[in-house]
Amino acid sequence: MADDPTFGVSPADDGIPAHLRHHGDEDVADGLVDLAVNVRLPAPPPWLRTQLVAGIDTLAAYPDTREATKAVAARHGRPLDEVLVTAGAAEAFSLLARALRPRNAVIVHPQFTEPEVALRSAGHPVSRVLLSADDGFTLNPHAVGEAADLVVVGNPTNPTSVLHPAETLLALRRPGRVLVVDEAFADAIPGEPESLAGQRIPGVLVFRSLTKTWGIAGLRAGYVLGDPLLVERLRAVQPPWSVSTLAGLAVVACSGAEAAVEADELTAEAERDRAFLVDGLRELGVRVAGKPRAPFILITVADGERVRLRLRELGYAVRRGDTFPGLSTDWLRVAVRDRHTTRGFLDALRLALKE
Ligand SMILES: Cc1ncc(COP(=O)(O)O)c(C=O)c1O
Repeated sequence: MADDPTFGVSPADDGIPAHLRHHGDEDVADGLVDLAVNVRLPAPPPWLRTQLVAGIDTLAAYPDTREATKAVAARHGRPLDEVLVTAGAAEAFSLLARALRPRNAVIVHPQFTEPEVALRSAGHPVSRVLLSADDGFTLNPHAVGEAADLVVVGNPTNPTSVLHPAETLLALRRPGRVLVVDEAFADAIPGEPESLAGQRIPGVLVFRSLTKTWGIAGLRAGYVLGDPLLVERLRAVQPPWSVSTLAGLAVVACSGAEAAVEADELTAEAERDRAFLVDGLRELGVRVAGKPRAPFILITVADGERVRLRLRELGYAVRRGDTFPGLSTDWLRVAVRDRHTTRGFLDALRLALKE
């Protein structure tokens, strides 16, 4: 044992509760219809697949993200030094935690837990502002204390599906404070309203993901936009070649004109599919949180743990809510899928609620 270099080192000893590391993919199992993971497409679209397959022949060379950086800069109308291509939005949170030394980081919850895990893993103190279901999980910028030197907020927020107004986010800015807006799902809303991606604002970083809309969660592709001084600090701690050649190709392809047309169609369809799901839930008397805008919704049901487990028996995996700070087992997150899948889910839910 003493020769084992990992002896005495337990990843569980870092003081971070295990539930913060829970992600929707763990709620899925073989044979279940997946309403737990928010990746919209079941596979990359054919035009993207073709480019990825062609890219295999270039894999002998080390990756170079210059083309991807240019493509993102062009898509959002920003200069190159305001862009950092990353291995998904998740990598951006690790870079943030390594690059900055916040003394009063504040995370607006309930939200994706990876920012909190990344910051706490790097030893930074983190406090939480918990939004309330009674207010539809809307954000009052005054709820964030003046001492906060780093604020992380999701827009639209996972899991509440709430889209905060850009002016509410901008009201969070303070001298000496970094504001990070996680826009991992912004490209899933037609026209990307309330996005700060195209605006040059000192002290603000926007994190974006390409994995959900384009069905490439396994590829890891995203980027950071924002204040060039902050972007440079993140760039300085990014491991070499962390964005693979294929991820770089995906970033170029998904930032182009063809992708923009398809994205518009996908988002319009997702809006219709979400309305169908929400109407069906309301018919069942199920409460839907806030005003949903993302390709997933948050619902609350009595005896939620039993309902979730019964849904699994009936063949449907939904995302448990209780691992998100501020939520209990009575909250469940449901991904927006096509009408056929949603009909099946609503039938199963009707049964699960009756029993
Ligand atoms: C809100 C939010 N931000 C970021 C991410 C990570 O995205 P990526 O796949 O680009 O790392 C996720 C993934 O679930 C998410 O839900």
